[in-house]
Amino acid sequence: MGLGYIGLPTAAMLAARGHAVLGCDTDPRVVKAVASGQAHFREPDLDSLLAAALATGRLVAQGAPRPAEVFLIAVPTPLGPGNRADLSAVWAATDAIAPLLKPGDLVILESTCPVGTTEALAARIAAARPDLALPMRGVPAPPGCVHLAHCPERVLPGAMLRELVANDRIIGGLTPGCAESARALYAGFVTGQCHVTDSRTAELAKLAENAFRDVNIAFANELADIAIGVQVDPWAAIALANRHPRVAILAPGPGVGGHCIAVDPWFLAESAPEGAPLIRAARAVNDARPGHVAAAIRALARPGAAVACLGLTYKPDVGDLRASPALAVAEELSRDGTLRLICCDPLLAALPPPLAGRPGVVLAGLESALAQADVVAILVAHRAFRALGAPALQGRTVLDAVGMLVAAV
Ligand SMILES: NC(=O)c1ccc[n+]([C@@H]2O[C@H](COP(=O)([O-])OP(=O)(O)OC[C@H]3O[C@@H](n4cnc5c(N)ncnc54)[C@H](O)[C@@H]3O)[C@@H](O)[C@H]2O)c1
Repeated sequence: MGLGYIGLPTAAMLAARGHAVLGCDTDPRVVKAVASGQAHFREPDLDSLLAAALATGRLVAQGAPRPAEVFLIAVPTPLGPGNRADLSAVWAATDAIAPLLKPGDLVILESTCPVGTTEALAARIAAARPDLALPMRGVPAPPGCVHLAHCPERVLPGAMLRELVANDRIIGGLTPGCAESARALYAGFVTGQCHVTDSRTAELAKLAENAFRDVNIAFANELADIAIGVQVDPWAAIALANRHPRVAILAPGPGVGGHCIAVDPWFLAESAPEGAPLIRAARAVNDARPGHVAAAIRALARPGAAVACLGLTYKPDVGDLRASPALAVAEELSRDGTLRLICCDPLLAALPPPLAGRPGVVLAGLESALAQADVVAILVAHRAFRALGAPALQGRTVLDAVGMLVAAV
């Protein structure tokens, strides 16, 4: 259920390993693209895996599910109002599969979700299907019950196919029997270890991973702001601090993007409505960062200046724009029309909203962008930019928000 960044590689992988897979997506454009062998997003080697899976006839894409032995839910779980998880897609997928379930079927929730969601999913199925036996946390599984597990994903976009197989997996069953059922499925293609636990621990562990990243990035970003304020090069100071054997400060940047690290900490905070001050503060620090970077660029540019924004996506060598801080920086710079923005991103074919159509904003190739720019802002260290090297930018006014030139030295 869901053929996005997580669901499609997983479906293709399972089909390549011999399973008959029905890939379901409510977006007809996604179904059409997948059925024609075209992934609707860029991911190295995915097109060839998809082509191989389709050629076997074991992968079929369509809009609605059919009866199966295993149902794997990988639908979006974005932030809703009040920074609470919007689980509407999870419930829609649950409602679509509930009428199809038989005793012994396995339902796996891969979507990242707040603690307790797998139990809520079981309760929802139980309400829709009083004829079925459902597992309950801490209670021995009744005979013939449907199995339920939370098996979160931790793949790295850009290396998904490798990590889908090589990463360790957390397998959180509602009961030990549920976990064993899910473990058997993943053991068929995962070479990393499958760590079996209960569903709540699995949900919390996944959220902890991304909150850990967010909090540590926030520390690096806050440190960068402090360093710049006292005329110290943050990169130099962090490099020196990291010579301590027990210190490993992360790299500062223009903020935190994508729809995981910037979102999942809120799901953790949701579990502690009156608490989690550190997690909430980290979110605020990282959310404020694009504004700080934009202000630093403005300080270097006179009115009417041409600013080359190198990179718009949310991370290097990935075409994903979701919650991109680089895009937020460019948007902020374009807002009042006092600057000319020459955006350059080798992973984009056109200017994305909200930049598309804005007066004074264009998308250009790297050479053209550098030729026209009064100020060069490095916002994402894409491979094409890394290949430039520091000498190509010598003598230019550069704001390096990601430390790309430091890394190149
Ligand atoms: N992308 C990542 O790197 C990543 C990593 C770890 C975890 N996750 C988590 O995995 C989940 C899926 O993320 P994604 O990046 O694959 O999302 P995505 O937006 O790329 O894909 C989700 C797909 O689900 C489809 N969909 C929505 N509602 C549906 C429904 N009711 N039935 C069937 N299909 C439906 C959408 O049309 C879309 O194609 C999220 O919870 C996310 O937080 C993502």
